Amino acid sequence: MAIPPGQSQSKTHTIPVVCFKNVRKTFGNQQVLRGLSFELQPGEISFIIGRSGEGKSVTIKHIIGVLHPDVGEIFINGELLTRAPETSWIRARKNMGLLFQDGALFDSMTVGENVAFPIREFEQLTPKELSLRVESLLDLVGLPGYGLARVPDLSIGERKRVGLARALSLNPSLLLYDEPTTGMDPLISELIDSLILEMQKKIPGLSSVVISHDIQSVLRLADRIFFLHEGKMYATGTPTEFRANTDPIIQQFITGSLKGPLGQPIA
Ligand SMILES: Nc1ncnc2c1ncn2[C@@H]1O[C@H](COP(=O)(O)OP(=O)(O)OP(=O)(O)O)[C@@H](O)[C@H]1O
Ligand SMILES: [Mg+2]
Repeated sequence: MAIPPGQSQSKTHTIPVVCFKNVRKTFGNQQVLRGLSFELQPGEISFIIGRSGEGKSVTIKHIIGVLHPDVGEIFINGELLTRAPETSWIRARKNMGLLFQDGALFDSMTVGENVAFPIREFEQLTPKELSLRVESLLDLVGLPGYGLARVPDLSIGERKRVGLARALSLNPSLLLYDEPTTGMDPLISELIDSLILEMQKKIPGLSSVVISHDIQSVLRLADRIFFLHEGKMYATGTPTEFRANTDPIIQQFITGSLKGPLGQPIA
């Protein structure tokens, strides 16, 4: 059974890394988030799923504080950040790493310069300390010695790894991936999946949030799935709970069927 929205998903009393309480967001006359409540537990890989246009990216933008709710509350690591000053968000964001679909690398910079970019912005390190940090990040993502490589010469998989190294550069405790595999061939998708798992294993206490349309990845990797539908958390649960859930909307998502209450495939 999926756990009804709004209820705690953990029996232990850990502080959620992210907690949304009744968040509403409207653009013009389009209500995107309509009372969204959920909690993401530390140390877990949480997948946010749902049809295109349901508000998954809008949700991630609320987590990083580039969008703010019209109504409702957002807590990051237990701290209420709704209506907090931008300085509080900047502090919270330092603990977050973001990986976008295309990696968003700077083509004119070397791999090392790309990875060093956020560190330069936020920390005062000596050149030696900086180069050691960059080297260790490139080692972590399986690209040792790539510091001087040119971004345009990299394969898609290598670009992803550089993007990941940069996302990890400030030692975040929360890593956010917005559709890391969409548009990738199956081999690259699998490689990215294994990177997500590998990072989770290598970095103690890391929490990961992944938006994905790839149901196979979701069922294979997720500790917990969050199904966004009509602006609310329609259901949450483990992959096993989702597979066993007989709700027709969830079943349509799991099977990717054209027929069902959703009227169109969503995976
Ligand atoms: N800044 C904005 N201004 C106006 N409308 C927006 C803005 N950001 C998002 N929207 C709208 O909110 C809705 C949800 O967008 P969002 O990008 O979160 O969808 P999504 O679930 O991530 O979809 P996809 O799976 O296609 O990426 C869309 O209809 C989008 O056009
Ligand atoms: Mg999106």
